[in-house]
Amino acid sequence: MDASHVDQDLVNVLFTEKQIQDRLAELAREVERDYADQDLLIVGILRGAVMVMADLARSLERHVEMDWMAISSYGSGTKSSGVVRILKDLDTDITGRHVLIVDEIIDTGLTLSWLTSNLSSREPASVEILTLLRKPEALQMPVEVKYVGWDIPNEFVVGYGLDYRERYRNLRDIGTLAPHVYS
Ligand code: IMP
Ligand code: MG
Repeated sequence: MDASHVDQDLVNVLFTEKQIQDRLAELAREVERDYADQDLLIVGILRGAVMVMADLARSLERHVEMDWMAISSYGSGTKSSGVVRILKDLDTDITGRHVLIVDEIIDTGLTLSWLTSNLSSREPASVEILTLLRKPEALQMPVEVKYVGWDIPNEFVVGYGLDYRERYRNLRDIGTLAPHVYS
């Protein structure tokens, strides 16, 4: 579905499907350049990063391996709990590998700062982060991010993998959720 199917639930559309695809293609060119001649494993964080992984991977004009992790950091609401737990670990041994973590959004940074140090302790050749969105004003933990789609204001957004109570993930666009939906 696109924003027209849920327009009363959104304050505005931040990024259209087309803008997202164009930005991911730009990031894919940077990744190709930075990892030229290197073997690359991209790690998607379930469930939000499914769309970014699918479209980024298909934009990459090179071989790439894909693996997934599931981490709990949010309950079902709109606030970060700060509690991080691995629900599904990697199937891949990342020792000596170049790892690129792919996520859809960095909010407080708690999840990815924890995950980066967890993966770094497994002695990979490198660990970097690609995120489609980042909320600089919400950051509580410093996270070094190599690739960012866009920095956005500190508002709750949905669509393109981002959910509110498991809904809106299948929205093609990204929009700001209207407060009447969650209050
Ligand atoms: P962080 O640990 O606070 O950086 O946030 C980690 C996770 O919270 C993200 O990967 C998302 O799954 C979720 N999240 C943060 N902000 C939003 C939002 O605006 N909409 C939907 N999910 C969000
Ligand atoms: Mg997520």
